[in-house]
Amino acid sequence: MILRDVLAQAERRAQLTLQKHGELQYVVATSKGWSRSDLLIRLDLPTDDALQMSAEHAAQQLADGYPAEYLTGHAAFCDTVVRVSEGVLVPRPETEHLVELAEDFIVEEGRPSAVVLDLCSGSGAIALALAARLQQVNVVGLELDPVSISCSRESALDAGLSERVRFIQGNVLAAWDLALADFRSRTDVIVSNPPYVREQRLLTAHESSPVEPVWALYGGTSGMLFYKRIIAQACDWLRPGGLLLLEIDDGLEQGILDLFERYGLQGGHWSPDLRGLPRYAEARRAE
Ligand SMILES: C[S@@+](CC[C@H](N)C(=O)[O-])C[C@H]1O[C@@H](n2cnc3c(N)ncnc32)[C@H](O)[C@@H]1O
Repeated sequence: MILRDVLAQAERRAQLTLQKHGELQYVVATSKGWSRSDLLIRLDLPTDDALQMSAEHAAQQLADGYPAEYLTGHAAFCDTVVRVSEGVLVPRPETEHLVELAEDFIVEEGRPSAVVLDLCSGSGAIALALAARLQQVNVVGLELDPVSISCSRESALDAGLSERVRFIQGNVLAAWDLALADFRSRTDVIVSNPPYVREQRLLTAHESSPVEPVWALYGGTSGMLFYKRIIAQACDWLRPGGLLLLEIDDGLEQGILDLFERYGLQGGHWSPDLRGLPRYAEARRAE
């Protein structure tokens, strides 16, 4: 059978939606070490049984809701690639803007050797993308999940960034002194995309990505669990003038601005994502 028919048959058998057609091509190409165009030029060439079996398996997994990134083991984020496996949240495109905001702050404020904390670092995407862009920054990621920690450490090694980017296993909701004592009053930027999905939205989030871990998304009944903790501690960990940068969910923005004010952070404001929804919030420790 030629490759075109193998892919079509795999899609039909798994009842794969049209939307995932490109994902199957990407997964099959990656499994063979091909680019997407390598695959396209082979569409009318005969294939072997092994490729047919792996295409059918991949189509079934995609139909079951596995992200293509779990099947290839890698996710693209900003200009970097990070490792992901089942249990690790695949970094989302909207999170890339957090990296741009942190980069702008560090460059504009003239803090080239900035110390950055990435709380709830997951795959390590934010930490690694920022370190890849700014040659002198040092980043520490704090993450609870051991699988995410080992993926992020391997990605740091892959990217040659393990000297400047470290990942510590720890709980953002516990006393930060346990894991982050060295960074008290020494941090230029705290960046975080914590779990923020509130209870009433959890089912929708689970349905749109049924295989990804729910604990990576759930931010308590109101979605505010992690923000309360992070904002309450931020001033003790930031240097004067340092920046707190958060990814947020729409509907939480006012509560977050109120917390900024309550804990003495200044200049608090939010900004929208490409859909116009509140997605980023930032504030600074006073000079
Ligand atoms: C929304 S994901 C974001 C991951 C990554 N920063 C990104 O942007 O792709 C939230 C992350 O918080 C981690 N997490 C959940 N509870 C935590 C806790 N108590 N302490 C530290 N990390 C936690 C999850 O394992 C998950 O990796």
